[in-house]
Amino acid sequence: MQTFRALVTEINTEGKVTNEVQSLPRSFIPMDGVLIRVQYSSLNFKDALSANGHKGITRNYPHIPGIDAAGVVEEDPTGTFLAGTRVLVTGFDMGMNAHGGLSEYICVPANWVIEIPPTLSTRTAMQWGTAGLTAAMAIDALVSNHVSPEKGDVLVTGASGGVGMISIQLLKKLGYSVVALNGKPQLNNTLLDLGAARVISRQKFSEEPVRALYAMDYVGAIDTLGGDFLVQLVKRLKYGGSVAVCGMAAGIEIPLQVYPFILRGIRMLGIYSADSSLAYKQKIWTSIANEWMLDLDSICQEISLDEVPRILEKMLMGTSSGRYIVKI
Ligand SMILES: NC(=O)c1ccc[n+]([C@@H]2O[C@H](COP(=O)([O-])OP(=O)(O)OC[C@H]3O[C@@H](n4cnc5c(N)ncnc54)[C@H](OP(=O)(O)O)[C@@H]3O)[C@@H](O)[C@H]2O)c1
Repeated sequence: MQTFRALVTEINTEGKVTNEVQSLPRSFIPMDGVLIRVQYSSLNFKDALSANGHKGITRNYPHIPGIDAAGVVEEDPTGTFLAGTRVLVTGFDMGMNAHGGLSEYICVPANWVIEIPPTLSTRTAMQWGTAGLTAAMAIDALVSNHVSPEKGDVLVTGASGGVGMISIQLLKKLGYSVVALNGKPQLNNTLLDLGAARVISRQKFSEEPVRALYAMDYVGAIDTLGGDFLVQLVKRLKYGGSVAVCGMAAGIEIPLQVYPFILRGIRMLGIYSADSSLAYKQKIWTSIANEWMLDLDSICQEISLDEVPRILEKMLMGTSSGRYIVKI
């Protein structure tokens, strides 16, 4: 490999951010880890932030975004992986402060790399990607906190997004009754087809007058929105219910009183898939490849590297839906 193609985010001296597919010399990426020929990547909200110059995600530019990658090992100086092994990488610092997976090649530490289970292809692994891993970890956390199907409904917010749609499908597969909170009425039927028992409007939810507590509607929730949405759903959990807190698509502040905790014993379970231990990631990928296997074809669109900037913009505006996998 003398040169390789990758999406490069740059910020000029006036602060203008550009995203462009470029041909780069091998020296652009540090060659001190496992060299992987990427076959597929996928798009996540964090990529949209990184490619928009968000310094909380990526400090230094020019930068190759992409928190997900799946492909084949080309060289491994650590001797951990044989050349030709099918592997995936999600999270850790990849695509944040280390160059990412929207690239023909990545070079990453061996302890970020997972051998892909035999029942998954590099393509299906990226259909799940970080969004799917996060949905699976959120459900694992709910199950560990005794949120079981017979106890009541589970609410999924940001339902039309990547984490949301996979959460709906996996919860349904595990026997839960799922309520989807969605801001795109044109996708209500899609969410019902995926397995939601009911869809409620994000706009209506946000217009509810603020109260200390609401009726106890849900035994569990997977929240990708944060902000006032998270505040309201916490106040709607049943006694002993739990919410897996995953995202901040709608806001980072949560002005919350203690009542739901001390009067209803509810739990907030923080989910951070990127820096979860390699062992925990491997455990969840094993479940995904076996008893949690899903057909994600209907929610995934395959795009090229050149189409990535346009889709990342849609993700930032909240107008994208489902999962985008990138054929490299
Ligand atoms: N904790 C973790 O480990 C982890 C991992 C992956 C992702 N995340 C976070 O989870 C969130 C969702 O990720 P994703 O990959 O599913 O993103 P996504 O595919 O872009 O979906 C986000 C969804 O949130 C809703 N939304 C977007 N912008 C909004 C806004 N301004 N106000 C209200 N709702 C908005 C939309 O759904 P509706 O129109 O259906 O409401 C949208 O489809 C992000 O904050 C991401 O950073 C966290």
